[in-house]
Amino acid sequence: MKTANIADLREQARRRLPTMFFDYIDGGSFSERTMRANEADFDDWLLDPLVLRDVSHRDLSASFLGGEHALPIVLGPVGFAGLFAGNGEAQAAQAAAAAGIPMCLSTFSICSMEEVARAADMPLYLQLYILRDRILCEEMIERARNANVKALVLTVDSAVSSIRERDTRNGFRTASRLRPGAALDMALHPRWAADMLLSRRPRLGNISPRCSAGRNFMDQVSFLSNQLDPTLRWEDIRWLKERWNGPLVIKGILTPDDARRAVDHGATAIVVSNHGGRQLDGAMSTISALPSVAAAVDGEVEIFLDGGVRRGTHIVKALALGADGVFLGRAWVYGLAAHGRSGVADAISLLRAEFDLTLALMGVTSIAELRKTGTRLRRTQPGIGNAAVLRRAS
Ligand SMILES: Cc1cc2nc3c(=O)[nH]c(=O)nc-3n(C[C@H](O)[C@H](O)[C@H](O)COP(=O)(O)O)c2cc1C
Repeated sequence: MKTANIADLREQARRRLPTMFFDYIDGGSFSERTMRANEADFDDWLLDPLVLRDVSHRDLSASFLGGEHALPIVLGPVGFAGLFAGNGEAQAAQAAAAAGIPMCLSTFSICSMEEVARAADMPLYLQLYILRDRILCEEMIERARNANVKALVLTVDSAVSSIRERDTRNGFRTASRLRPGAALDMALHPRWAADMLLSRRPRLGNISPRCSAGRNFMDQVSFLSNQLDPTLRWEDIRWLKERWNGPLVIKGILTPDDARRAVDHGATAIVVSNHGGRQLDGAMSTISALPSVAAAVDGEVEIFLDGGVRRGTHIVKALALGADGVFLGRAWVYGLAAHGRSGVADAISLLRAEFDLTLALMGVTSIAELRKTGTRLRRTQPGIGNAAVLRRAS
């Protein structure tokens, strides 16, 4: 059957991956309320089309973080992507390059930043945590500079790691060794297993040169997980800015107050994000958080949104409510897990087609026009589903 949308890629990923890996990607924290709300709350916003407005030529390009890009989309940081397909991060980077969009590599990646930079010619961003071991963090910043990384993306919503109950059940990252059932789980997914057998042994590429991180993959994972620093405060942003004078994106902002703090501490951009509902369950969805964050920032820095983006309409809604672009999380990883590089390309092209059509059907031909005409979004009363107008974004 042909792949029609991101949900199809998700289903294909589910079939190809061992359950514990699929659950790791697909799951959220605690009751997964925030994770579900991220996607569902896009439906709170209705699109008002404008008709009879020559939409024969459309321009989907976007400029952000100092570059011109084919789409307002970034492949966002996703840890362990190289476990879902061999050299997964490099394959994703190649798909991003072919589509003319940037990719942001996770600190927790299998391929190193240098390998990804070599694999594809696209703007590479590096997602970073300020680690307890500041020397290690400085080394990573220096490597990022040498690898021509265009922006650092500092994730700030992970002072501690949350509990993801699917991972608890599967023993993913919670056990120091694989459960006996895990080997069976892997053997029952031969396409994935063959791909992994043909790839080199996994390691965390961004830290593996460090002896103290250990040589064994599981040791490296626990070393890096223990590096998350719960003592971090806003003042620590200065430490980072003294070492990196390129664009700095702060990822994990949900409130107007924190958005202002990010601006005041010298961020170039922010990502309105709740980590895909994987950290604070009960936090508001990102599309609900975006309008007040955008109002507080008032154009002083660029804004990205992530969380639940599975449709071109979601991208249009995010842009109309004040975002300059979106980061994809699960959407591209489902593609990677299903078909490697071509699956990531499928995810991007499905979203491109939906985004393009949605713009045309709304009667606008570019992102600038989407903003200028104040193409209307109407907010339904959440949870009621009628079109009671609470707010008109213009
Ligand atoms: C499997 C997985 C691993 C992730 N790893 C990271 C990470 O290493 N660093 C980070 O900043 N965000 C990470 N995220 C969060 C994503 O960058 C992004 O915020 C989130 O996936 C967006 O929600 P969505 O998947 O619903 O689109 C991860 C998300 C997933 C699904």
